[in-house]
Amino acid sequence: MDVQRLRAITIVAPLGYLLGVEILTFVLIERAVGSDLVLRLVIIFGLLAVGAVPFSFWVFSTIERQQRDLVESLAATSRRNRELDAVNRASASISRALDLPQVLQNIVEAARDVVSARYAALGVTDESGRITQLITSGITAEQRFALGPLPEGHGLLGVLIRDGKPLRIPDISRDCRAHGFPPNHPRMKNLLGVPILLNDSVGGDLYLADKIGAEEFSQEDENLLVLLSQHAGLAIQNARLYRDALSVRDRLEILTFHLEAKVAERTQQIQSYSQQLTTRVLEAQEKERKRIARELHDETAQSLATLLINLDMCESLLPVDNPALLAMFARLRALATRTLEETRELSHDLRPTILDDVGLIAAVQWFAEEYTRTFGVEVGVDAEDPPTGRLSPEVEIALFRIAQEALTNSGKHAEASHVDVTLTFREEYARLVVEDNGKGFDLEQVAGATRKGCLGMYGMRERAALLAGTVAIDTAPGKGTRVTVVVSLKNKAERDRASEGLATC
Ligand SMILES: Nc1ncnc2c1ncn2[C@@H]1O[C@H](COP(=O)(O)OP(=O)(O)OP(=O)(O)O)[C@@H](O)[C@H]1O
Ligand SMILES: [Mg+2]
Repeated sequence: MDVQRLRAITIVAPLGYLLGVEILTFVLIERAVGSDLVLRLVIIFGLLAVGAVPFSFWVFSTIERQQRDLVESLAATSRRNRELDAVNRASASISRALDLPQVLQNIVEAARDVVSARYAALGVTDESGRITQLITSGITAEQRFALGPLPEGHGLLGVLIRDGKPLRIPDISRDCRAHGFPPNHPRMKNLLGVPILLNDSVGGDLYLADKIGAEEFSQEDENLLVLLSQHAGLAIQNARLYRDALSVRDRLEILTFHLEAKVAERTQQIQSYSQQLTTRVLEAQEKERKRIARELHDETAQSLATLLINLDMCESLLPVDNPALLAMFARLRALATRTLEETRELSHDLRPTILDDVGLIAAVQWFAEEYTRTFGVEVGVDAEDPPTGRLSPEVEIALFRIAQEALTNSGKHAEASHVDVTLTFREEYARLVVEDNGKGFDLEQVAGATRKGCLGMYGMRERAALLAGTVAIDTAPGKGTRVTVVVSLKNKAERDRASEGLATC
């Protein structure tokens, strides 16, 4: 009975009763007793007492019953709260881990804790319902080992797997579906099992055995375990997703590693091909220069020289009284002489024979003199520790061409009054420094410009790089320019070995 109703009854019932007593007094008692006031009062009090006492009893017993119900319901609520709290804590502990084996173990421990069971197990099943993994709690590792292979699900475990709904057995030994325990299996009295749903289909089952502190598992235990199994399902799905993500990440990392190694290998190959190509182009260029220089020297210059000799012979045959013819002949002779000189110069410029015949230092000195003749600027050439023998042709040609380019740059761009060329030789390397006192330039601007028209410095670097060397340019507007080139004097095989060593460091 609710409080409203009780309140209405406690107000309306006494009033009704009083009214009844009043009517009774008026109609019956007055007639029966007459004017005897004492007797009338006794009867009225008696009637009131007869009504009031049972009514009070009824009211108080109703209130007491309601109080009892309230206390019980409070106790049930607080028990439910405690249980839900336990489930929450268990769920939190399950979800804390992401590693799948750890998540499964946490679920078994939490389930055992929540329903107070001595033993717990979680069987992971495949699509056909076969148990593929069994995680246990409450037995030692030795006991687990002694159990042997995974259960095949013939007995009560199979019932749970097949039915896919909670199973509560108060006494396993009396259940006709039980198949008995395998050898080494601990004896168990009662069982509570619930399925674990993964993506709406059963992915495993939780088995709890031997309730602690009670004869059997209760309906509440079952409800709590069902609730926990829902959290467990989500945690398992999360852990599987995490594991899959990790394996994808691992595969990606491995792929990236292989890809990077491949790219590095290809880059090295391309670099080596490009170096080989540059070497071949430069070699072919030098060869062609040499061939044209020889051609000019041996063929063209010889022919011009023969022409001059023939002109000399013809001169004596010319009629002396023809001044116009004599003047034309003199112009012809001068032209042939100039062409012969230019051809010789061109031949020399293309490939100074001095470089092949005498060597680098002499060739640089010769070029410096040519430079002074062309630009009218003094050049000092100095050689420190010159080698006793000859350097390899590739080193001589490279250093000569670099010196030629650096000097030509000074002549073309620097407006210098003096240039110094210093060659230094050590056992392992050679250094060339070309320094002018000209106007200098902004290196960054030149480096940022397109290569068109600025091939000179690019060529210097290429030639040096082929000899494992470097080019450093030290300059600024108004400060002059110093070009420093260092190249290795090791032969190609030694250079390759050294760079391989560096690459593997
Ligand atoms: N010694 C120098 N003094 C002043 N400026 C220089 C000097 N050397 C180089 N430069 C500047 O650097 C630029 C690039 O030089 P680089 O030798 O690469 O090209 P270039 O001489 O202009 O053309 P080329 O391709 O014929 O050599 C030059 O155009 C010039 O402005
Ligand atoms: Mg240049």
